[in-house]
Amino acid sequence: MLVLGIETSCDETAFGLVENGRLVAEAVASQADVHALFGGVVPELASREHYRILGPLFDNFLQRANISVADLDAVAVARGPGLLGSLLVGVAFAKALAFGAGISLIGIDHLRAHILAPGLERELNFPALGLLVSGGHTHIYYLENPHSFELLGKTLDDAAGEAFDKVAKMLGLPYPGGRFLDRLAKAGQINRHLFTYPYLDNNNLDFSFSGLKTALSSYILANPCLKEQVAALPSSFDELAARQDFASVLQLTELCASFNHCVVHTLCVKVERALQQLRTRGKKVNSFIVAGGVAANSMLREQAEKLAEKNALELVLPSFSLCTDNGAMIAYAGYLMLKNGYVHNLDLEAMARGRVIPEDFVRLQDTPAR
Ligand code: KG4
Ligand code: ZN
Repeated sequence: MLVLGIETSCDETAFGLVENGRLVAEAVASQADVHALFGGVVPELASREHYRILGPLFDNFLQRANISVADLDAVAVARGPGLLGSLLVGVAFAKALAFGAGISLIGIDHLRAHILAPGLERELNFPALGLLVSGGHTHIYYLENPHSFELLGKTLDDAAGEAFDKVAKMLGLPYPGGRFLDRLAKAGQINRHLFTYPYLDNNNLDFSFSGLKTALSSYILANPCLKEQVAALPSSFDELAARQDFASVLQLTELCASFNHCVVHTLCVKVERALQQLRTRGKKVNSFIVAGGVAANSMLREQAEKLAEKNALELVLPSFSLCTDNGAMIAYAGYLMLKNGYVHNLDLEAMARGRVIPEDFVRLQDTPAR
């Protein structure tokens, strides 16, 4: 069973090819450089870039993977949530491919694909608790199995990755700033008195990072030396990552470490709270899956390990290439649906951020023979 995955929900144009649950090829073209000029993703530019790159990238991908369209059983595509214009480019491409080649079309929830992605690297042990932390979303899910997702909590405003990126932007760090902040945080001392944990003083499982972002904004305004310290650093990530001496930017590294700690601590408290609530409901949890771009954060990876150990859970952390947006996770989620006999008709709709993704799959045997 050979499934092609197409990802165009934000600023990555990507393909993945999964054969019987195993990744056989992938290609990612990032638009980060285009958007870096504006300090964030510009939706209109993103869709135009997807449109420009998708065709040539596909031809090149097939050639490198040494397959032809006729070898495919299905094409899976991220149908949302995401930037509508960007999603439409991928969805239209996938529909044309499915129609032209006479293969099945499968629309994939991008968020579920992130959570299931580590299944490409190891067998996932269900029931699982899933924490999805990306540039657009911060969701806690309970997964009885790979097809049943119960949303337990989500962000009410900014996503965790968005908070990282916005704080980085305020400091003058390059876009996307999450990994720069992470690197600086690693070199700094956490000061627990600088900021308060956001939205913990309640008993729910939702998040709110906008207050913390405002606190950072005020702190950065009141301490202009922080931006001066950023200006003295290399703007290339590789150079920053290789740097050993941060003595001249101590205040900056302290701010990054303290902010990073605030976000990670808040995520972990809510996850522990979710585990407690599930226990009260008599629900079993075997593993803890952390996914999405922010799952690459070193402090989060460290704390997730401690949390899993304390709660006797198997920790599932995807490798870095599976954390950020990729086509492999879309192909894999598509493979899981196809294996269970679920596909979509050609009237599949793309869903912008904020819309609920419908469970509108149809049984494979009920679709017209193509
Ligand atoms: O999952 P993803 O590639 O895209 C979305 O679906 O949103 O996540 C991208 C996000 C960005 O906000 C980026 O800054 C963040 O993940 N990110 C990180 C790190 N690496 C990527 N945030 C914190 N620490 C990192 N090491
Ligand atoms: Zn994503």
